[in-house]
Amino acid sequence: MDLIEKINKAKEYIVEIDNSPINVGIILGTGLGTLADEIENKRIIKYEEIPGFPVSTVVGHAGELIIGELMGKKVLALNGRFHYYEGYDMETVTFPIRVMKALGIENMIVSNAAGGMNPSFEPGDLMIIEDHINFIGNNPLIGKNYDELGPRFPDMSNPYYKEYIKLVKECAMDLNIKIQQGVYVAISGPNYETSAELRMLRLIGGDAVGMSTVPEVIVANHMGMKVLGVSCITDMALGDSLEPLDHSKVVETANKAKGKFVTLIKEYIKRM
Ligand code: HPA
Repeated sequence: MDLIEKINKAKEYIVEIDNSPINVGIILGTGLGTLADEIENKRIIKYEEIPGFPVSTVVGHAGELIIGELMGKKVLALNGRFHYYEGYDMETVTFPIRVMKALGIENMIVSNAAGGMNPSFEPGDLMIIEDHINFIGNNPLIGKNYDELGPRFPDMSNPYYKEYIKLVKECAMDLNIKIQQGVYVAISGPNYETSAELRMLRLIGGDAVGMSTVPEVIVANHMGMKVLGVSCITDMALGDSLEPLDHSKVVETANKAKGKFVTLIKEYIKRM
């Protein structure tokens, strides 16, 4: 089956369950899944039910697609994402974004947990992603281009929609939520970075580092979707003073910050 057929099969399955127009698609990062609890009148679809969807394997990722209402808007949330380090190919990692667009979704909110490389950040901060660096060593657009999905050589001059950055900053200001802004660097993982790697990633312009998001954002831009990206800074990834890190610490800090994440995103969706 080619990619287009696969997308259509997944789309048809979802449309059978709910076929009303959706305003925004949301990808919930590690520890940030509680936003899904706020969705009303919802239908929950397990990933394993959806044709073409693999099953997510990471702790803190539920593996559910949720369609419902949030702040008066119709939303589709992906609670759990697919990472390159899990061994999926890039087409699989980004497949849910292809399906979102096939469902008519033009706006995407992407979130993640990330290490803070900018020394002015603190664990628990939220960071608006203003730009990214793809340091994964692969690209989801390598291979046959489907012209019906997007161009062979997509523009990436504005991968995170400036109007939405402005809007989310206004929301943060009005809600008194401290917000950072910066460049997200994606690495493949699954190991966390060495001190030398972090010094390099900071030197090349990164403010935060993580193992996701960039493939999804590339594919969203390929299809002309408008993206807002928010990182939750869960630990300090400083080359000169690096402390041992494990996944439970990442989940723990994301859990502490999720309240303000949920408050901010709800306000943003309301004003969208
Ligand atoms: N590095 C990479 N990925 C991460 C980190 C980190 O420090 N924190 C959360 N995700």
